[in-house]
Amino acid sequence: MTTPGRFLQTCDLRQTDSRPVWLMRQAGRYLPEYRQIRERHSFKEMVTTPELCAEITLQPIRRYDLDAAIIFSDILVLLEALGAPYEIIEGRGPVLERTVRSAADLDSLSTGVEAGDLDYVYESLGLLRAELAPELALLGFAGAPWTLACYLVSGGSSQDGFPEIIGLSKDEPVLLTKILERLTDAVIAHLKAQLQAGADAVQVFDSWAGMLGREQYRELVLPHMQRIAAALAGERVIYFLKGATHYLSAAEAAQFRLLSVDHQRPLSYYRDKLGGDIVLQGNLDPAALRLDPAELAAETRKVLADHGPGPGHIFNLGHGITPDIPPEHVQVMVETVRAFAPVTA
Ligand code: CP3
Repeated sequence: MTTPGRFLQTCDLRQTDSRPVWLMRQAGRYLPEYRQIRERHSFKEMVTTPELCAEITLQPIRRYDLDAAIIFSDILVLLEALGAPYEIIEGRGPVLERTVRSAADLDSLSTGVEAGDLDYVYESLGLLRAELAPELALLGFAGAPWTLACYLVSGGSSQDGFPEIIGLSKDEPVLLTKILERLTDAVIAHLKAQLQAGADAVQVFDSWAGMLGREQYRELVLPHMQRIAAALAGERVIYFLKGATHYLSAAEAAQFRLLSVDHQRPLSYYRDKLGGDIVLQGNLDPAALRLDPAELAAETRKVLADHGPGPGHIFNLGHGITPDIPPEHVQVMVETVRAFAPVTA
């Protein structure tokens, strides 16, 4: 069982001795201990073997004074469970074995995740909950339907983004909606199962929604996100938006109480627009982690000061940490957050 620490207290807009802090992609290639395991195992082995998964998830927790552990997994595990296996290719990123661009393609996909297919995720969460200190929050996650569809339709990412899904949205809007609905059902089931398995909160990554204009967002993203919010009402669900300031009011309509924002705008901008009842997560520019320690500490304090001392801020980056970051710099960032003034009502 979890004893509410800084992360969960902040989710409830309560005061804390310092802001909760964790980093997107906190387990990963910038850590030498991660690269050491990666040399001996494929990404997939690391994700699907609960003991390895738990070990990698805990690596950043052992190094830094963080408030949350996010399970080491990927948004693509769900596509694999639906019948579209992936590989992570060095230097190129994720590639799917197949794409879904026609009604026949969609028909040949599973209608839902079969019992057992993602048990490795839920087993890993169980192991982690047992090992983590009770005041640390355990996070599960999934890709948002739109972001998952980008990979499913295109088969991977390319230099020019995901042109195939934009084409499909124009030529076959009904088919695309069916794909998004299928993905939404799977996302809801996967998030619920992670919460059931011991996750205290879940994050939905909409990394590619930012490519859409406001109208497209309302059509292709919002209804599905609203369905996710409704299906998980009462649970802690963080919605991560990247490149999203232009459709923030639409995102607001989905009624997520926890919003993770990128570094396009200062936190005060989001706070002013959204009011005091929303918990904001973010939003240090990940590039700031390359600065020398004094400048990095200054940038970190700028984010903290910009939000102000009121409750409801979870410190994080605006997007994931990159492999080139020196691990000592993360230490500087976390210590700066800890040393900053307490949260007051
Ligand atoms: O935050 C965490 O520490 C949890 C782990 C996590 C991974 N992927 C591990 C990973 C999370 C939350 C993700 C989410 C994810 N995966 C997203 C959404 C978040 C975002 O960053 O926008 C997306 C779009 C993916 C798809 C994906 N998987 C990409 C783009 C890549 C990177 C390819 C590359 O080589 O840079 C992956 C592979 C991946 N997922 C790695 C890690 C640590 C690198 C794998 C390796 O060791 O080679």
